[in-house]
Amino acid sequence: MDRLTADRDWNLAVNALDHLGLDLTAYKRPQLERRLNSFMQREGFPDIESLIGAVQREPALYRQFHSYLTIHVTDFFRDTQYWDYWRNSIQDPQQRHWRVWSAGCSWGAEPLTAALILQELGIQYDIIATDSDDTVLDQARRKLFSQDNYVKIPQAYQRYFYRQGLDWSVIPLDGGTISYRRHDVTQEALPGPFDAIICRNVIIYFEMPVRHRILNDFSHALRPGGILFLGATETFLEYSQLGFEAIAPSIFKKIS
Ligand SMILES: C[S@@+](CC[C@H](N)C(=O)[O-])C[C@H]1O[C@@H](n2cnc3c(N)ncnc32)[C@H](O)[C@@H]1O
Repeated sequence: MDRLTADRDWNLAVNALDHLGLDLTAYKRPQLERRLNSFMQREGFPDIESLIGAVQREPALYRQFHSYLTIHVTDFFRDTQYWDYWRNSIQDPQQRHWRVWSAGCSWGAEPLTAALILQELGIQYDIIATDSDDTVLDQARRKLFSQDNYVKIPQAYQRYFYRQGLDWSVIPLDGGTISYRRHDVTQEALPGPFDAIICRNVIIYFEMPVRHRILNDFSHALRPGGILFLGATETFLEYSQLGFEAIAPSIFKKIS
């Protein structure tokens, strides 16, 4: 297979970044190689050694580099129809409080979408929103959204937002809380039990064994009857083996 980075350089990067807490081997290599090479070009590093030396010396550069390696595309109500499936899957008259984990939440559109849906349904919630990237988490905590982000919000929910200069922000929601914290899904899952886990467009970036391990962790972190919500383009063929039933496109229920 053609590689953008020689194995020697790749191994150097893997070892150095492992010491800084980033496991490159968890991710599919070609995409990370493209990001790594484009970061080096953009920042003017002639070779991998100089890049590694610099990120080891400068925490701010490491943070920038770490953030650059991963893709942060997200949106409010991303793949709207799938949020409709999720809304239907959580309508349980017995369950009036939901503990939800949004894993790989990027700059926060996903947990906020979940909160708005729960809020409209009159269901109480506590949402823990995590990402491995501090830069997007800072942005999520600021709760400032561009006009382009705002126009993705369905009209019925726009009344929760207000102008803040050129941006938009969200009014305090009284139905529950969203807390943001750094967490790497390749490490141990957050302590459950959760009523729902939303992890969309994150595990597609991982190698198969890592992806499988994460899905297994999610299965253990969900209560029986809990709901797992994956990305619209993600396949989860081994769902029954991991204790789930498929109840709607991209929605899986932990078997009681
Ligand atoms: C494409 S975005 C998806 C955002 C959102 N879930 C959505 O579907 O709209 C992928 C997110 O996963 C995060 N991510 C990548 N590796 C991660 C890891 N090991 N642990 C937690 N989050 C990770 C990235 O920082 C990024 O914010």
